[in-house]
Amino acid sequence: MVELKNITVGFNNHNILDGLNLNIKDGEILSVIGMSGTGKSVLLKTILGLIPHQNGQIIFDGIDISEFTEEEYDYKVRNKMSMVFQAGALLDSLTIEQNIKLALIHRKDLSNDTKHKMALESLEMVGLSGVDSKYPEELSGGMIKRAAIARGIVSKPKYLFYDEPTTGLDPVLSNLINNLIHKLSRELNITSMLITHDINGAEKFSDRIAMLYRGKIILTCPAGEIWRQSNETFNNFIHGNVEFK
Ligand SMILES: Nc1ncnc2c1ncn2[C@@H]1O[C@H](COP(=O)(O)OP(=O)(O)OP(=O)(O)O)[C@@H](O)[C@H]1O
Ligand SMILES: [Mg+2]
Repeated sequence: MVELKNITVGFNNHNILDGLNLNIKDGEILSVIGMSGTGKSVLLKTILGLIPHQNGQIIFDGIDISEFTEEEYDYKVRNKMSMVFQAGALLDSLTIEQNIKLALIHRKDLSNDTKHKMALESLEMVGLSGVDSKYPEELSGGMIKRAAIARGIVSKPKYLFYDEPTTGLDPVLSNLINNLIHKLSRELNITSMLITHDINGAEKFSDRIAMLYRGKIILTCPAGEIWRQSNETFNNFIHGNVEFK
């Protein structure tokens, strides 16, 4: 479980996250929703240790990560987490296999042959067998998203964080990616947190929904109960009401 307690993250004296509390429970799929520019990507990067927090605690499997040395952090935390970045973030100059193996670059314990096999296995898991020697520009947008997910799972993480995995995809592809996230979560037992604007997909494929608003998580609820909430801000947002600010 990852517990965020009273987290504050700011840039230039302006707090983006401001006393934020959130738990990610083992085995669940948690979807985080919220307005564009509200700090969802900042939240993910904070959990992954890519952005420092000024206040609060991140408790990772029961241990406060601020007590870790950099080495302990790498070994006990970073190795267990992986992220699928917004827009995929594949490098154009590398093949799909090379892009996927980037996630294993620090794994000196694995041979090149093992890394090759792991890359092919994860491509198979996402339904992309056979594209390993292609370059990103040769793939469609939906294939890029799946290749990015293959890179996310190749290290066999305990936690996988997705930043808008379905944004920009047509409804059929969105459904395919949501199904894939659900399958990976259940079959590989990966605890998953995703940022999404796809409310209907989130309702169908997640266990819980949380809403980020003005630096805080203002509501979490079971995914099946999103249309039965009394929080006005939450309701205005999910219904797309113009009253939402
Ligand atoms: N490294 C940074 N330095 C300064 N400001 C930043 C940095 N990263 C993010 N911000 C600011 O934090 C705010 C939140 O950005 P973030 O990318 O988290 O939004 P978001 O909720 O993910 O939006 P979207 O839905 O459009 O992806 C923005 O105002 C952004 O300019
Ligand atoms: Mg974002």
